[in-house]
Amino acid sequence: MTRVLAWSLTLALSAVAAAQQNQAPKDGYVGGNVCRTCHPDVVLNFYRNAHYKSVASGKEPPERTGCEGCHGPGKGHVDARGGRTTIPRAFSLMSPARVLDTCLACHSKDLSRSEIRRSPHTQSEVVCSTCHSIHKPQTPKLLLAKAQKDLCYGCHNNVRSQFAMPFKHRVNEGAIQCTDCHNPHGAPATSWRTGIHPRMVATSADGEQPCLRCHTDKRGPFAFEHPALRVDGCESCHSPHGSTNPRMLKRPVVMTLCLECHNGTGSFGRQGDGVTIQSSSHNVADPRYQNCTACHIRIHGSNSDQRFLR
Ligand code: HEC
Ligand code: HEC
Ligand code: HEC
Ligand code: HEC
Ligand code: HEC
Ligand code: HEC
Ligand code: HEC
Ligand code: HEC
Ligand code: HEC
Ligand code: HEC
Repeated sequence: MTRVLAWSLTLALSAVAAAQQNQAPKDGYVGGNVCRTCHPDVVLNFYRNAHYKSVASGKEPPERTGCEGCHGPGKGHVDARGGRTTIPRAFSLMSPARVLDTCLACHSKDLSRSEIRRSPHTQSEVVCSTCHSIHKPQTPKLLLAKAQKDLCYGCHNNVRSQFAMPFKHRVNEGAIQCTDCHNPHGAPATSWRTGIHPRMVATSADGEQPCLRCHTDKRGPFAFEHPALRVDGCESCHSPHGSTNPRMLKRPVVMTLCLECHNGTGSFGRQGDGVTIQSSSHNVADPRYQNCTACHIRIHGSNSDQRFLR
């Protein structure tokens, strides 16, 4: 009886000892206060950073807390009184791939909607720290290195002129942002066009075309849908950034737009599937027939007419 008691007491004590060992600082972690001595500015600004939460909560293990959550255990660096090679993760010396892995160690869940590893940005070595600045952000929220518009135009200058066209989305005026339509981390794995993720368009979880979030009347479901909307996307007829044509259409004359698909060669979309040429009743030489949408007024889809006439 006493032997059993003594034995279970030993067990309990060793459990306490083990727990204490777990709480003791892990090898090489010194805590963020130590950094303040030599990096006072960085530490001072850090209180406003979203990453300060890990310090404030007091619940995260050291490898996920504060400075060392990103830079790695700092003991060697402190003992050496600084140096770039002594800190395990000095971003100025890291390859883009390693930066990506460091940030994704914590953020893979937040970014799970995007195929970040296969995105055109990642493939061109444009990674987290190119767009985000941890210590000198220009937008404290989201920690962007620059205000979004300037950030994106910085590399996509050709796009700027598209938003200056007569008919456009008002990005330059601040009414809408690049990320209303694009996911800079990569489009979701599933999009409305199964298996295709062009231009990092689509921002919602279900991969719906972003356009439908604002232009809800085009979402349908319509009893009679114009397949061009869903199969090829809105951009088969519209220039999404801007255009010299009213309604941001891709072509100045609506007829030429329609005849790109309705031309009898059956080259549209799914292979081998032809598209009806316009009816034999249509004499395209007759100006009366040239303004297609004068009659086909429900061009995006209709609930009452198969030919979108009403
Ligand atoms: C979320 C990750 C992350 C955390 C947390 C973090 N850093 Fe950084 N640190 C970076 C990145 C990334 C850079 C590279 C420059 C940049 O992108 O801002 C950097 C750069 C630095 C630099 C180089 C000088 C400079 O300003 O560019 C120092 C010094 C530094 N960090 C110290 C610290 C200290 C001290 C802390 C804690 C108060 C800390 N870091 C917390 C990611 C982090
Ligand atoms: C005794 C002073 C001292 C302390 C304490 C100290 N550092 Fe440094 N640290 C330096 C010096 C000096 C440099 C500049 C090295 C250079 O540029 O050659 C530096 C550079 C850095 C860099 C920049 C590496 C790069 O990308 O170029 C980071 C990150 C960094 N320190 C993080 C930390 C963290 C995190 C702590 C706390 C755990 C810390 N430092 C504590 C002196 C210190
Ligand atoms: C140790 C874990 C960890 C690492 C590593 C880490 N983060 Fe974070 N990050 C967090 C946490 C926690 C938050 C706060 C989330 C919240 O607000 O709920 C956060 C927030 C953010 C935010 C959002 C800020 C906001 O205003 O909503 C951005 C952007 C961000 N991190 C970028 C980065 C980048 C870039 C890196 C790599 C240089 C990185 N993080 C590395 C844990 C981490
Ligand atoms: C091409 C630029 C770019 C790159 C590269 C990039 N981001 Fe972002 N990130 C942004 C922009 C812009 C936003 C703001 C989106 C918005 O306003 O809706 C953002 C938002 C975020 C957010 C907060 C909102 C969210 O989507 O969860 C986190 C966290 C984040 N980024 C982390 C990262 C990490 C981690 C990496 C690298 C693995 C990374 N980002 C790479 C531009 C970028
Ligand atoms: C550091 C430069 C850089 C920044 C900043 C940047 N990009 Fe990119 N972006 C690239 C590169 C490089 C590519 C891949 C090559 C290409 O297609 O131009 C790319 C590709 C793209 C593509 C896909 C193009 C395609 O043909 O598939 C889109 C969309 C895009 N970026 C949008 C954005 C948005 C939105 C932002 C701001 C949140 C942004 N980019 C910020 C450099 C950048
Ligand atoms: C209204 C939605 C919308 C907005 C806002 C938007 N885009 Fe786009 N963008 C698209 C669509 C849709 C495509 C694909 C067009 C195609 O494939 O024909 C695209 C294509 C692109 C491309 C690749 C083609 C090219 O022209 O080089 C880049 C780069 C790009 N966008 C960058 C941006 C940037 C940067 C911003 C913000 C300044 C932005 N976009 C804002 C919808 C948008
Ligand atoms: C964030 C909301 C939003 C998103 C996302 C959006 N739009 Fe728009 N769109 C608008 C607003 C607001 C206008 C009104 C024009 C203005 O801003 O001056 C507009 C105007 C238009 C027009 C011109 C309408 C007219 O009467 O001349 C077309 C066409 C259009 N959008 C197509 C699209 C397409 C295609 C997409 C997706 C690639 C898209 N939009 C995504 C908000 C949005
Ligand atoms: C088959 C070609 C085609 C496709 C695909 C298409 N549109 Fe249109 N859209 C048009 C034409 C043509 C007009 C001009 C109609 C007119 O002037 O009567 C128009 C006009 C518009 C307008 C302004 C007038 C209105 O009806 O509100 C908006 C907004 C619009 N489209 C959004 C979209 C969105 C969002 C998508 C994708 C879901 C889309 N379009 C797909 C051909 C198309
Ligand atoms: C991107 C290709 C594309 C464009 C551009 C396009 N369509 Fe279509 N359209 C289709 C497809 C695909 C169908 C359905 C298959 C079919 O009926 O042959 C269709 C069906 C139709 C139908 C119904 C046909 C039927 O038999 O019921 C009408 C009417 C129509 N389109 C008119 C137009 C008009 C008017 C325009 C120009 C504003 C236009 N389409 C532009 C691809 C397109
Ligand atoms: C004056 C009104 C009017 C104009 C303008 C018009 N259509 Fe039609 N369209 C109709 C009517 C009515 C029908 C259905 C009866 C028929 O076949 O004549 C139809 C049918 C169609 C069909 C379905 C053909 C089928 O065999 O079922 C297509 C495709 C079509 N039109 C495309 C176009 C295109 C493309 C244009 C512009 C070049 C255009 N329409 C201009 C009135 C018009």
